[in-house]
Amino acid sequence: MTDSAQQVPYTTNNAGIPVESDEHSLTVSPDGPILLQDHYLIEKMAQFNRERVPERVVHAKGGGAYGVFEVTNDVSQFTKADLFQPGKRCEMLARFSTVAGEQGSPDTWRDPRGFALKFYTEHGNYDLVGNNTPVFFVRDPQKFQDFIRSQKRHPQTGLRSNDMQWDFWTLSPESAHMVTWLMGDRGIPKTWRHMNGYSSHTYMWVNAGGEKFWVKYHIKTDQGIDFLTQAEADELAGSDADKHRRDLFEAIDSGNAPSWTMHVQVMPFEDAPDYRFNPFDLTKVWPHGDYPLIEVGRMTLNKNPEDFFVHIEQAAFEPSNLVPGIGPSPDKMLLGRLFSYPDTHRYRIGPNYAQLPPNRPHSPLGSYAKDGPMRYEPARTGAVYAPNSYGGPAADTARFGEPAGWETAGEMVREAYRLRRDDDDWGQPGTMVRQVLDDAARARLVSNVSGHLRQGVSRPVLDRALQYWRNIDKNIGDRIATEVNGG
Ligand code: NDP
Ligand code: HEM
Repeated sequence: MTDSAQQVPYTTNNAGIPVESDEHSLTVSPDGPILLQDHYLIEKMAQFNRERVPERVVHAKGGGAYGVFEVTNDVSQFTKADLFQPGKRCEMLARFSTVAGEQGSPDTWRDPRGFALKFYTEHGNYDLVGNNTPVFFVRDPQKFQDFIRSQKRHPQTGLRSNDMQWDFWTLSPESAHMVTWLMGDRGIPKTWRHMNGYSSHTYMWVNAGGEKFWVKYHIKTDQGIDFLTQAEADELAGSDADKHRRDLFEAIDSGNAPSWTMHVQVMPFEDAPDYRFNPFDLTKVWPHGDYPLIEVGRMTLNKNPEDFFVHIEQAAFEPSNLVPGIGPSPDKMLLGRLFSYPDTHRYRIGPNYAQLPPNRPHSPLGSYAKDGPMRYEPARTGAVYAPNSYGGPAADTARFGEPAGWETAGEMVREAYRLRRDDDDWGQPGTMVRQVLDDAARARLVSNVSGHLRQGVSRPVLDRALQYWRNIDKNIGDRIATEVNGG
């Protein structure tokens, strides 16, 4: 609706024609049948039937806000990306979400949280579509769909199934690090404001001289990490299913804008081939001791969307939105995701989703795209093809055409990453249990896991789950077994 239409004091139909009544359909006498010529009634019913777009296939329940990103440190030696240059400030959008639930699911179910960011840069939209976890459950996109099905509803009962979840996890030992993380305190953040975001993936940064670096992003909450216990989360799931969505809206509405400080770990390009484990494996972190955090900037979320559907439901984040100075890495999961997101947006929102308010760039467009359903930006006039002689845009290869890639060669195979000397699935989760968690956090981990395993996990899967935890840490596994078997 245009601004002028919003100011009209009388109701109109979608064509701007004044309607005769908000309450009464056109009928033959007060008690008689409704007439087909009541086109306003028909428009209302038809429009209503089309109000929903499909919910996201994952990360359906969420919320978000607009904000600003400000650079606080000089990282220009590592990237030429305009948004990260000293003194720069750019507008942005963030959306937080749970993964497995549906639109109406409680915000406080144990689940990873999506941490999706869109930066409106001078060179188009840069999307950093991460989670509140530095790692993930699987390391090959071939397994993602199966993984998600095991977390969503059972085809017969329509119920979530702990049996399916542990069945998949225990048959996929690479999940151990993420599952340990999920079952710990950070598996249920107190609010979205009290959690960190991570790129999880490794990306490539390229500086103005063409030098390349591998980076991982860590976006740390300035509100401090805080969590809910399982009991607190269960209570809130019943009393305020929208707890996290409400919290973010109310914090911003009351002038309490949350902020996060962005850091990166930077690995020299040449370190990757000989690092002790595959640095592109999404189930592993780079220890801080090897690659310390370097501050980049601060993001502040200070503006609630005017319309939730327009700005949050229709927001389309895509890891393939990478701007000059930033490229993908050989992480197979990331490479799979580069295809998946624009594809799902074309299906879920429509092929012209990029024109919608949250998705359109704030920088000038030089695109040759045209037509298609629901297009409202006119195609360029004159030159609708490239190259052309009529002044249409031309790719500036000299400026933007530098190779943001890496060299590769070899046979075509279907194989896991080659194992290196420290590549194992149990090491990093074991370190977390033994060295990062304190006694109280370990006790909560044991309680969370055993509580989960006691709900509908069948015997063969349960046995594998107990072994899975003993592989992570013998002591924790024994404690979980004792709890599960009734103390
Ligand atoms: P450090 O001691 O430097 O880092 C440990 C990190 O663990 C902390 O910085 C914090 O991450 C994170 N952490 C603290 N409490 C929890 C919790 N309850 N659940 C999950 N994460 C928590 O050691 P390393 O870098 O050598 O890593 C040791 C282990 O820590 C890893 O095996 C991994 O399991 C875990 N970890 C490591 C991260 C990394 O990027 N290196 C990030 C997160 C976890 P933060 O500062 O990001 O809040
Ligand atoms: C959402 C696919 C892995 C973070 C989605 C959506 C799809 C998808 C189809 C729905 C998007 C939409 O409808 O708008 C995949 C595939 C993956 C994968 C195929 C692996 C191969 C990951 C990983 C992360 C992640 C590893 C985090 C590091 C997110 C987030 C959203 C999302 C945050 C919600 C975005 C939003 O708020 O709109 N994913 N995903 N995904 N995914 Fe993934």
